[in-house]
Amino acid sequence: MAEYSYETHDYDVVVVGAGGAGLRATLGMAEQGLRTACVTKVFPTRSHTVAAQGGIAASLSNMGPDHWQWHMYDTVKGSDWLGDTDAMEYLAREAPKAVYELEHYGVPFSRTEEGKIYQRPFGGHTTEFGEGPAVQRTCAAADRTGHAILHTLYGQSLKQQAEFYVEYFAIDLLMADDGSCQGVLCWKLDDGTMHVFNAKTVVLATGGYGRAYFSATSAHTCTGDGGGMVARAGLPMQDMEFVQFHPTGIYGSGCLITEGARGEGGFLTNSEGERFMERYAPQYKDLAPRDYVSRSMTMEIREGRGVGDEGDHIHLNLSHLPPEALAERLPGISESARIFAGVDVTKEPIPVLPTVHYNMGGIPTNYWGEVLNPTADDPNRIVPGLMAVGEAGCASVHGANRLGSNSLIDLVVFGRAAAIRAGKVVDAESAVPTAPKSQIDKAFDRFDGLRNAKGGIPTAELRLEMQKTMQADAAVFRTAKTMAEGVEKMTAIAAKLDDLKVTDTSLVWNSDLMETLELTNLMPNALATIVGAEAREESRGAHAHEDFPKRDDDKWRVHTISRIDGNKVDLSFRPVVTDPLSTEAEGGISLKRIAPKERTF
Ligand code: FUM
Repeated sequence: MAEYSYETHDYDVVVVGAGGAGLRATLGMAEQGLRTACVTKVFPTRSHTVAAQGGIAASLSNMGPDHWQWHMYDTVKGSDWLGDTDAMEYLAREAPKAVYELEHYGVPFSRTEEGKIYQRPFGGHTTEFGEGPAVQRTCAAADRTGHAILHTLYGQSLKQQAEFYVEYFAIDLLMADDGSCQGVLCWKLDDGTMHVFNAKTVVLATGGYGRAYFSATSAHTCTGDGGGMVARAGLPMQDMEFVQFHPTGIYGSGCLITEGARGEGGFLTNSEGERFMERYAPQYKDLAPRDYVSRSMTMEIREGRGVGDEGDHIHLNLSHLPPEALAERLPGISESARIFAGVDVTKEPIPVLPTVHYNMGGIPTNYWGEVLNPTADDPNRIVPGLMAVGEAGCASVHGANRLGSNSLIDLVVFGRAAAIRAGKVVDAESAVPTAPKSQIDKAFDRFDGLRNAKGGIPTAELRLEMQKTMQADAAVFRTAKTMAEGVEKMTAIAAKLDDLKVTDTSLVWNSDLMETLELTNLMPNALATIVGAEAREESRGAHAHEDFPKRDDDKWRVHTISRIDGNKVDLSFRPVVTDPLSTEAEGGISLKRIAPKERTF
C-alpha cells in the first residue's frame, strides 16, 4: 500500500472547479453562511468559462418582445426532444433573475442606448414558439461575456469569505459504504503536498471533456475530471453520445469564432460564394441551431463546394459590417482571426470549420444539481452528498443539442440552484463526516501506481491515439461501420492505460503525472461517448447517424446511462422527463405545445 502523508480540511461544501458554474455555486453557498471551499486546478479566472464569447440567454425583452415560454420552447426544440422538461422550464423561468443578479454583482454588460443590457440574436432562439422571427435574447459583454462573468463571480466569492485552494488537482472522490460522498482527495501541484477535503457535500463543476478530441475549442484543461472520478466511484454518466460541433472554429487552430458574429449579421459562404444556409434553413438561415449549421457546412464540403486549396473548409464573412460595429461588438474575434488565421475581418472572410465545442452529456442530475444513480425502479435515485453543475453535469437541459448562449445561463442558473438546494439540505450545525480511510488509501494506491508507471506508452502518445480515433469515428456524421470500428479501437486504446510510462516521479509541478491523471479521466468519457453513439440507432440533435437518418421517438426518446469499468461500458436507459413544472393554467406551457414534431428551421 502506498504511504503518503496528508493534511485534512473540513468544510460544509467543497466545490471542485472554478468556472462559471463552480463560482456561482461557491458564491451562493458562501452567501448562505455555509463553510465553503473551492478547489481548482487552475487559477479561477483562467477556467475555461473565460473563453466564452457571445453571451448568455435570458428573455429580458430589452430589444423587442420575448417570454420565458418562448425560450423554453426553443430549448425543447433545440434539444430535439431529449431534454428533461422540468429542467428546461426551470432554466428558462429562472434565467432573467439569474442575469439580473449577475448585473447587480457587477458584470459589465454591453448596453443599449437606453442603458439596458444589450442582447443579440443567436442560433435557434426565436419568437412565437418557433413561428416568428429570430429574437435578440443573448445578453452580451461585447464578445468577452465569459471573461466578464468569471471575474465578477470570483470577486464576489472572495467577498463572501469562500476559501480558494488554487492549483489543487482532485484525484478521486471519497465515498462512504452507504453510497454517500464524503469528500475528495487532492494533490497540491506547486509543492507536492496531499490534501483530504472532508465535506457534507461535494459539488463537481469540472467542465467538459472536449480534449478527448483532436480539434476542440475547449482549453487543454477540459479533461472531464468529474466524469472520470464519478466513473471510478461506480456512478454513471448520461447521454454521452451527444457532442456538439460549433460551426465556426478557425480552420487549423480550432479557436472559437463566436456565433455572435452571425448574430451581428455575418454569414457563411461556399466556394461558389453562395450563402448556402438559405437552402438548408430557409427561415433562420445562418441562425439555425448549431447541429443544423455544422451538418450543412459538412455537406457543402463533401459535395465539393468547400473553400481553400483543399476545398476542406468554409468562409465566414464579416467584411460587410461597419468597422465600428466590429470594433464595439466583436473586438475579441477580430483579434483571434488576425492572430490565428492571419485575416483582417474588415477586408477578408475567416476560414472556419465545425469544431468540437461542448458535451451535452455528463453526470446525471436533477434540476437542483443533485447527482443521480438511476435504477430500473427508481430513475431519480439521488447520491447523497454529491452534486454536479455546468458542463460536467447533465440536468438534462440541452438534450441532444444545446442552443448557443444556453451554456452560460446553464452555469449560473444551475450553480445557483445547487446553492439554493444545499441551503436546504446541508445542516451547517452538524459535524463534518470523516471520509473513510480505506477510500483514501485506495485513491493513493491509484495515484502511486500512475506516478510509478513503467509501461511502454508515453501519456502524450496514448492521448493522441484516443483523440484521433474520436475525431475520425465520432464525428459530425456517423455511420454504423465507423462507430463499430470506433468502439473496437477505443476499447483497445483504453486497455493501454495499464501500459503507460510516466518518466517524472517528482511531486512538484509534475505535468507528466498531471496529464496522466487527466488522461485517466478523459478515457472513460471518450469510451462512453463512442459506445453510446454506436448503440443509438437513430439521428437526433448532434448525433447524425447516416444509417438511421430519422429520429425514432418510440424507441429512442430515452437517456442513455453508461457505467464504465476499465475498458468496458454497461449501457442502460432512463426515461426522459416529459412533464413541465407548471401547467398551462398556472401560466406554464401546454403539453401540446411541446409535443415532439419534425424539427425544421
Ligand atoms: O459562439 C459562442 O459565442 C459560444 C457560445 C456558447 O457556446 O454558448
